[in-house]
Amino acid sequence: LDNGLARRPPMGWMSWQRFLCVVDCNLYPDDCISDTLFRQMADRMSEDGYLEAGYEYLVIDDCWMATKRDEQGKLQPDLIRFPYGMKNLSDYVHSKGLKFGMYQAVGRKTCAGYPGSKGHLEIDANTFAEWDVDYIKMDGCSARKYEYKKAYTDFGKFLNNTGRPIVYSCSWPAYLEIPGIHANYTYLAEICNLWRNWADIEDSYESLTAIIDWFSKNRNRFINSAGPGNWNDPDMLLIGNYGLSIEQSKSQMALWAIMAAPLLMSVDFRTIDQRSKDILLNKEAIAINQDKLGLQGRWLKKTDSIDIWVRQIAPVVNGEYTYAVAFHSRREDGFPFALRVALDEISLSNSIEYFVTDIFEPTNFNRTVNVAEEILVRVKPSGVVFLKFVPQGI
Ligand code: GLA
Repeated sequence: LDNGLARRPPMGWMSWQRFLCVVDCNLYPDDCISDTLFRQMADRMSEDGYLEAGYEYLVIDDCWMATKRDEQGKLQPDLIRFPYGMKNLSDYVHSKGLKFGMYQAVGRKTCAGYPGSKGHLEIDANTFAEWDVDYIKMDGCSARKYEYKKAYTDFGKFLNNTGRPIVYSCSWPAYLEIPGIHANYTYLAEICNLWRNWADIEDSYESLTAIIDWFSKNRNRFINSAGPGNWNDPDMLLIGNYGLSIEQSKSQMALWAIMAAPLLMSVDFRTIDQRSKDILLNKEAIAINQDKLGLQGRWLKKTDSIDIWVRQIAPVVNGEYTYAVAFHSRREDGFPFALRVALDEISLSNSIEYFVTDIFEPTNFNRTVNVAEEILVRVKPSGVVFLKFVPQGI
């Protein structure tokens, strides 16, 4: 969507994967979807280095609403969990230097059963603008197949009519993509800044790899629709939660960087461990994700059960791209597998030499490699080796 926003994949934090729809604040005082939770997350996000690293949107997912609209038909938050209202919370989030995002759905109800926007698209767009919202995740539960196109198109127009710059995230394709039926990504790129292509991510390596495999298998239908202003969204980062090991967390970070995916953390900043935090804050991985060319990378091939992914990034030197390459081990045998690859096997044959750096192990490589050379990588089970190849002047 050419609205001047999301020129790079959006970066931020979203409540859903980690905090879901916990609304019982007596049983879960620290975790329930409430004003307190979001203020605490805003504090940590702005003070603990995340904002500085580029994570700027704090997005409230489902379950913030009251079960009914107010007398004027406007959305309202649950007044027990959000006693000061949404504008007050939005002001607080903005006072921390962050941007403020919210969730709604185009159908009769949200996915968790709160009032949806059906019949209220315009009034809801205006309400979000009144609350100074900067990002909307528009979900697609409880709508009929034939309703989606008009609803997503209209809501985008209503957002635009508010005059407020609001990043528009559409979950429409996630409701279409079943074998045999596919979304129209060219059209999505015209009306949305990003879109959730497929299934919800859950806190397990199994869920992560199912998503990764779907994105590699279906890549040709949508990678060309990615670019500044429009992005494919494979869903939130699991890093720092319960389901992924440290090596698996690096795999997610590397592949999200290759896929030019939105980097939406969903983690408890109050309890995150240092190693997970370091992965989320890895400057080089973030820089690859945010590369200005905005070309989405792709799965290239599998060798010895190691998936190889490549992405073309800047700088372009004498017409040659820089490459980010991820070797993601799908092996389960317990030692770092040594893989030798010639550069022309991973599409890097044109430049004479590349300067190679290792994103997660900066002491590895850090040297010039000639295209005639083979390189050796040692990939840990379910982990990743993530390299950057900068062409050297010819
Ligand atoms: C859907 C979305 C999730 C989350 C929930 C909220 O399942 O895909 O990301 O927003 O709804 O109910």
